[in-house]
Amino acid sequence: MTDRKLIELAAEAMENSYSPYSRVKVGAAVECTDGTVYQGCNIENTTIGATICAETAAIAGAVSAGRRDFLRIAIVAENSNTYRFPCGACRQMLMEFSPDMEVLSARGDGRYVSYSLAALLPMPFGKE
Ligand code: THU
Repeated sequence: MTDRKLIELAAEAMENSYSPYSRVKVGAAVECTDGTVYQGCNIENTTIGATICAETAAIAGAVSAGRRDFLRIAIVAENSNTYRFPCGACRQMLMEFSPDMEVLSARGDGRYVSYSLAALLPMPFGKE
């Protein structure tokens, strides 16, 4: 799958964002080693603390479907003129399953950057 296609799938998921409190729509698409993609969006809650990030929603869907082999994740935020990256908790969530994966972040104008998860989360709390 191309980077562009994965970003497109993240943007598609963003449309389902439930974010009446922050009004920040976020979408994510995580690609497994066989090309299967799981999408997620941020889901806010009036209790605020119960909010789920788009990345975690995507990972939850994938893991619930039996997948833990992630190659890449793409993240898109609505009208974003800056690159948005996964929050610390989402980085750790990704690290749990696929420390070698790549993280793509796309801006509203379609430009995107790619970083290794290891670069975004150096010295993680490891399993071993
Ligand atoms: N959010 C994500 O979906 N992913 C992140 O990595 C950080 C933040 C969401 C949570 C909340 O609904 C909105 O963005 C504003 O913080």
